[in-house]
Amino acid sequence: MRWSRKDLFGIEGLSKKELFTILKISKYYKNSMKSKPAKSFKILKGYTIINMFFEASTRTRISFEVAEKRMGAFTINFNVAISSVKKGETFIDTIKTINAMHIDAIVIRHSDRGIPQLTKKYFNGSVLNAGDGTHEHPTQALLDLLSMWEHIKCFKDIHIGIIGDILYSRATRSLIIGLNTLGAKVSLIGPPTLLPEYFKDWGVDIYYKLDTIISELDILYVYRIQKERAELLKPTIPSIGEYAKLYRIDTQRIKKAKKDALIMHPGPVVRGSEVSTPLYDSKQCLALDQVTSGVAVRMALLQLLLKGEINNE
Ligand code: CP
Repeated sequence: MRWSRKDLFGIEGLSKKELFTILKISKYYKNSMKSKPAKSFKILKGYTIINMFFEASTRTRISFEVAEKRMGAFTINFNVAISSVKKGETFIDTIKTINAMHIDAIVIRHSDRGIPQLTKKYFNGSVLNAGDGTHEHPTQALLDLLSMWEHIKCFKDIHIGIIGDILYSRATRSLIIGLNTLGAKVSLIGPPTLLPEYFKDWGVDIYYKLDTIISELDILYVYRIQKERAELLKPTIPSIGEYAKLYRIDTQRIKKAKKDALIMHPGPVVRGSEVSTPLYDSKQCLALDQVTSGVAVRMALLQLLLKGEINNE
C-alpha cells in the first residue's frame, strides 16, 4: 500500500482511514523524539523544501523546519521582507521562480484563502498548507488530533467543546472537519457575533454560554481572539474583558467541568484572556504536548507526501 496524495490543502476530503494513517505514523515519530538527541532520519536525503511564511508564525514555521531537518531534507526559509516581492514581483512570478530551481516542496502560510491551490498551479512539487487566511490550517488539526488520541480511548466516546473565535479561525474549521470524520461529538461555544447559526450545518451543536455546557465536555479546546484580524473583529466583541467574563477558562469556571477534563490550546496564548495562567501552566493543559505533536505530524506528512511510504518498520 502506498500514499497517493502529493499535497495537503486541507482536512476536507481526507478519509477516516487517511487520518488514522497520518496519526499512526505521527505517533511513531513522536516516540522517536524521546531519545536524546531526538532521532534523525535520512528518508528525505537529497530533497529540498522551502518554507514560505507570508504571515507571522512561531510553532508552525519552526516545527516544519525541525521536521524537515530531522527527515534529512535541505531546508530553505523564504524571507518575505528581503525578497523581490518587496520590489514588486508578483506572487505567481515568485512561485514560478522557485519552481525553476527544482525545489521538491513548498510549505506555505498566507493571509489569503486558497493560496496553496494557486501555488500548485505554478509549482511541480508538493504543496503543504501551513494556514491560508480564514480557510484551513490542516497540520494544526492533525497535531490536535494526535494529542487527543494519545489521551483518550476512542474519538466516538468524547465530547469536545471548541470555545472562542470560531468565525475567523482556520484551525477551528480544520479541527471540526477532522473530528466529524473521526466521529467525535463537537460543540461550538462563543459569542453569537463570532458563532453564526449556520455553523449548525456542520453537524455540531452551538452554545452562547460556556457555563451551560462545560460540565459535559471531555476536552475544552480554547481559541484565542485573533487581534491580527482586528478589522474583521472590530464589530464582534465589546472588549477582551467582556469576552473573558463569559468564556475564559479559569480556576472558578473549571470547577464546573469534569475533574479529568483536558484543556487544549493551539497557541499563541494570550495569558489571562482566554485561559488563566495557572490553568494554562497546569498538567491539565496539553498546549506544549500539542507543540511536540506538531513536529511529529509534520515529519509524517513529509514522508507520506514526498515519498508515498506508509510503513515505518
Ligand atoms: N498554532 C499556530 O499556528 O501557531 P503559529 O502561528 O505560531 O504557527
